[in-house]
Amino acid sequence: MTIHEAILARHSVRHYTDAPLTTEQIETLKAEMERCNTEGNLHLQLIINEPNCFQAEKPHYGKFQNVRNYIALVGQRSKDLDERLGYFGECVVLLAQTLGLNTCWVGLTYKKTPDAMQILPDERLRGVIAIGTGVDGGVQHKSKSFEAVTEGKDFPEWFQKGVAAALLAPTAINQQKFRFSYKEDQVSVKAGLGFFAHMDLGIVAYHFEIASGHSFFLNQLRTGKS
Ligand SMILES: Cc1cc2nc3c(=O)[nH]c(=O)nc-3n(C[C@H](O)[C@H](O)[C@H](O)COP(=O)(O)O)c2cc1C
Repeated sequence: MTIHEAILARHSVRHYTDAPLTTEQIETLKAEMERCNTEGNLHLQLIINEPNCFQAEKPHYGKFQNVRNYIALVGQRSKDLDERLGYFGECVVLLAQTLGLNTCWVGLTYKKTPDAMQILPDERLRGVIAIGTGVDGGVQHKSKSFEAVTEGKDFPEWFQKGVAAALLAPTAINQQKFRFSYKEDQVSVKAGLGFFAHMDLGIVAYHFEIASGHSFFLNQLRTGKS
């Protein structure tokens, strides 16, 4: 499965089988997380076989079942931390999908387990991503229209492809509170108001970049326009 195919195949999965992550899957994920941590100045961590975060010993914890592995979304406090966690976290999510794994971003419905991870004094834990072999592959979410999330006119095909992929991305409570703008061959994206809207922004920007072939988001962050 390619990353493009992973965009179509990915849905949030909250029920997992007992199948452990394989050594190969762990090594591939860790290598990608190392790249993301270096490039994004983050402290993403893969936590394996740790049942407390989702209380796996209880049959149901919220909507989750049998989550034993997760990625801790940790990074140094900064204005654009959520955007970077979203962008680089989604790199790992889509890679996981290509490895035959399923995932779910979790901002609220988990228990903090500081003993299972490393959080330095100037760092924050902003959420986790559940990861494992799903009981099923999840379902396609309902989506806003292209028009509802764009500004501009005479959109080129690459921009349309990018927005279509962004509309397939996970967002907190499926809020899709983002808006892509196209003007004079330039693209930008803004977050609306909502819980985790800035983490969503990084996630949807990564989908846009993969499908459109146009990288813009990290530069937008570096120039402080987000
Ligand atoms: C930043 C973020 C936080 C999320 N937090 C939670 C959560 O706390 N609990 C939960 O069950 N799902 C959570 N989700 C999953 C969303 O509900 C899900 O992505 C959305 O409904 C779209 O569905 P899909 O991922 O299957 O496309 C979160 C997603 C994102 C992107």
